[in-house]
Amino acid sequence: MADRLAGVPEEIDLTRPSAARVYDYYLGGAHNFAVDREMAARAVAMWPDLPLIMQANRAFLRRAVRHCVAAGVRQFLDLGSGIPTAGNVHEVARSAAPDARVVYVDVDPVAVAHSRFILGDDPATRVVQADLRRPDLLLDHPEVRSLLDFEQPVAVMMVAVLHFVPDADDPAGVVAGYLGALAPGSFLVLSHATHEGQPDKAEEHQELYRRTATPMTMRSRAEVSALLDGLDVVDPGVVYLPLWRPESLDEVDERPERFTGLAAVARKR
Ligand SMILES: C[S@@+](CC[C@H](N)C(=O)[O-])C[C@H]1O[C@@H](n2cnc3c(N)ncnc32)[C@H](O)[C@@H]1O
Repeated sequence: MADRLAGVPEEIDLTRPSAARVYDYYLGGAHNFAVDREMAARAVAMWPDLPLIMQANRAFLRRAVRHCVAAGVRQFLDLGSGIPTAGNVHEVARSAAPDARVVYVDVDPVAVAHSRFILGDDPATRVVQADLRRPDLLLDHPEVRSLLDFEQPVAVMMVAVLHFVPDADDPAGVVAGYLGALAPGSFLVLSHATHEGQPDKAEEHQELYRRTATPMTMRSRAEVSALLDGLDVVDPGVVYLPLWRPESLDEVDERPERFTGLAAVARKR
């Protein structure tokens, strides 16, 4: 049994890497433990582009939030929000719309603790520890209901999280569970790991994530597109991360497929 680090609550398993903390490490954050750094270092040794891919994912998230705000959305439900990092949803949304409201949801206790610490008693944000696979419970959660008005459009963010929902847990059913509760004009913002960009690396990478509590299921473009059935997918469709409405030449890459993450924004009719 590992010695417990001072101040780390019992519910945090220090012997097992967590997807949230490994992702924090890729992004250069400090909220990770030795077991996470060891797994992340192995992943980066296998796949040196990983930090770049995660940065491209965050850049997509920021562009997508700005798109939703420009379309009039003021409410965000960020599912699998992760450990806070530069350019969180509320910061990006508020820079364009000061009245924007955001509920952050994550299953990981470290992500939730840091989110609560950063947001303090900010009246226009909430942080909920929950499993997104239960839309029925989450949509009825008092913290969610206290901030979001489901009669008005909401942007539901599922950014780099649905690949942690295996087929057996019916990701399409989970998405449908949220969409059914949303008003017309609401958005789904999605990014998802795919094996199609660099197929030679996919299996080894998924193998590493089997050590975490949230193993990874990469999906094809056709499978990711199917998650958006019945919605109006906004241009340019389901594309590699840097190709979703890049705002500067720095965001474009000659080989977008090496980013191995697909991005899309879709609107409920
Ligand atoms: C790769 S991070 C993505 C963070 C953020 N959405 C982003 O794109 O920058 C994935 C996050 O999803 C969370 N997660 C995984 N499965 C989840 C579930 N079933 N319910 C809620 N959160 C989940 C993990 O704890 C982690 O914080």
